[in-house]
Amino acid sequence: MASDATAELAIYPGSFDPPTLGHLDLIERGRRIFPRLLVAVLRNAGKQALFTSGERVDMLREACAAMDRVEIAEFDGLLVDFAQERGAGALLRGIRAISDYEYEFQMAWMNRRMAPAVETVFMMPGEAFAYLSSRLVKEVAAGGRSVAGMVTPAVEARLRHKLHLA
Ligand SMILES: Nc1ncnc2c1ncn2[C@@H]1O[C@H](COP(=O)(O)OP(=O)(O)O)[C@@H](O)[C@H]1O
Ligand SMILES: [Mg+2]
Repeated sequence: MASDATAELAIYPGSFDPPTLGHLDLIERGRRIFPRLLVAVLRNAGKQALFTSGERVDMLREACAAMDRVEIAEFDGLLVDFAQERGAGALLRGIRAISDYEYEFQMAWMNRRMAPAVETVFMMPGEAFAYLSSRLVKEVAAGGRSVAGMVTPAVEARLRHKLHLA
């Protein structure tokens, strides 16, 4: 994109394994800023995911069904390549605690070096979601505890099923 153009499309990338209410809070905030928001599910983070990327896409599609101007897609490879391919002008990332900073800054600098025209934008979730992570949600669910209020009821049901709890 031209360097003086406004970011019409932002990409919100992540593993979303599974999507939490923190992710959804960020999507709501992002779509107030950007005309279009593309939530991009990393197909294989090299990490072992509980849900397939197809399942993660489905959960996000369900959760965002009522949100105009929000789309969901999968990608693999470098995020900057995907962003350029889609013509995105911005990358949206969430910052919860100071502990997120180091990793996020490293990535943002590296992405800027590779794609200077693509701006990384950080947003904070609402306080109620500041401690939520997919990893902890999975641990709590695997321990047989309720994750109500941390994920949507549909995601909670999928977690129980996936973990053979129901
Ligand atoms: N509770 C939350 N509140 C705000 N942002 C969050 C929350 N949980 C995750 N995020 C942000 O959402 C993005 C995707 O997170 P995640 O699914 O863990 O993928 P990744 O593997 O890229 O970290 C990251 O920018 C992360 O900081
Ligand atoms: Mg993460």
